[in-house]
Amino acid sequence: MSSRKESENIIFFENRYRPQLHYSPKKNWMNDPNGMVYYEGEYHLFYQHTPHDTKPDFGRMHWGHAISKDLVHWEELPPAILPGEDGAIFSGSAVVDTNNTSGFFNENGSGLVAIYTNDGNSAQNGKPQVQSIAYSRDKGRTWTKYEGNPVLFPMKTLDFRDPKVFWHDESSMWVMVLAVKDRVEFYISPNLKEWSYASEFGSDIAGIHRGVFECPDLIQIQVDEKPDVTKWILILSVGDRNGVNPSDPEPPAGGSGMMYFIGNFDGRSFTPDDTLESLDAIKWIDYGSDFYAAVTWDGIPKEDGRKIWVGWMNNWRYASTLPSKEWRGHMSIPREIQLKTYPEGIRLIQVPISELSQLRRPIISLQDITIKPGSNVLSEISTAKAEIIAEFEIGTAEEFGFKVRTSANQETIIGYSILKEELFVDRTKSNDIDFHPDFAAKHKAPMKPEHERIQLSIYVDWSSVEVFGNKGKAIVSDMIFPDLESRGLELYTLGGELKVVSLQINDLVSIWGNESV
Ligand code: FRU
Repeated sequence: MSSRKESENIIFFENRYRPQLHYSPKKNWMNDPNGMVYYEGEYHLFYQHTPHDTKPDFGRMHWGHAISKDLVHWEELPPAILPGEDGAIFSGSAVVDTNNTSGFFNENGSGLVAIYTNDGNSAQNGKPQVQSIAYSRDKGRTWTKYEGNPVLFPMKTLDFRDPKVFWHDESSMWVMVLAVKDRVEFYISPNLKEWSYASEFGSDIAGIHRGVFECPDLIQIQVDEKPDVTKWILILSVGDRNGVNPSDPEPPAGGSGMMYFIGNFDGRSFTPDDTLESLDAIKWIDYGSDFYAAVTWDGIPKEDGRKIWVGWMNNWRYASTLPSKEWRGHMSIPREIQLKTYPEGIRLIQVPISELSQLRRPIISLQDITIKPGSNVLSEISTAKAEIIAEFEIGTAEEFGFKVRTSANQETIIGYSILKEELFVDRTKSNDIDFHPDFAAKHKAPMKPEHERIQLSIYVDWSSVEVFGNKGKAIVSDMIFPDLESRGLELYTLGGELKVVSLQINDLVSIWGNESV
């Protein structure tokens, strides 16, 4: 790294609450991840960004831009797509146009095409949201808006946004999944410029319309890693405003959240495996408050084959009031999505990507120990960021877990209640909580022991915790704002002894290259 970059990163690194393991822009506002695409050795991460303000300026939303070679270390580039007469640049996706179906590239050449929502175009009567495209011939560094924009107008509603596009091999067509208020709509196109309506999903499913739908995704994925068994997952983010039916259930931690449906897609329409009547139990992606608008990377080579995403680690309920100063908003760690069969059916699980292991600096490793109430085997450890990987055997304890980022009067509890069969994060004493009345809370995920064991993988950073229970089956992602000096760690048990089968704690080196290792 050049010395200019190093010193820039040191200033950046010193900001209070600045995530050390997660992407955040150096300055100002960020929300949804956009345009996730892998192309010629680089992962692109675009995102909703107002480069001039720490609050969301919806009238002047840009696509911010960062690139990475390993999904772990990121380089921020200048904003990629800027608002103009066409309106603000809202969320969307990007694809590799391998066969030049769009005609934007040289014969036999390929390039990137971004598909996004224009919001508030002043020339449009009633200012509906419309879909537009832009292309890049230089690996995403510069973008040209298509002169024929917009490429798709709404038929009815003003909520018509967040196109996620992918190439559907079987039908040799581009497919767009779009959030349209209380439904998703599917459109198809041979060339990314002309789109025709195919079908819709969700308007008639009772109980899922608490908030307006946003940022959908549709992915095909193997079940239990068997190449010949695949399913489609339809993913939906549900906003915290403009609810169609406010009496429908809130996401588990309140505000905005994400749900999913498993089924099949034939190139035109999505059919869920569950019958509509049995869709009464919504499948939630994350039981914490802060994982939203996650969408997957396009273009990951077939040899790799993983489905990877990041989410915006935030919640619309309080997003613009966060106590960070120089910037607002950060992404989750990248996670791999898998489908796994359990006794109750197929479920989506998420696991931290294996690339994160390069950051590990082992602190402690323990096997087969029994701990008693009132003791703390981790009292010597002091760290403001960590990876904790642990497996426990259900014994006589009623509750156990970790207290992280502790000091005399601060703690965040990551626990498991054996009595209630619940994984939880309690951030009520995590320090800076007063910026919104709903922030101080305990978030719970239902989770049963598997073979009498509980497995936890936990990522602690300067301003967040991400908890993956039972190898990614139950997830709680929450922001926290402790003092940097709150670095204590505790392993506790209540009501009885706890058998620790294995426990490994690693420091994770800052991804910004500003820490002496
Ligand atoms: C989701 C969202 C999108 C919209 C964008 C605007 O968080 O509301 O629906 O495109 O943010 O920034």
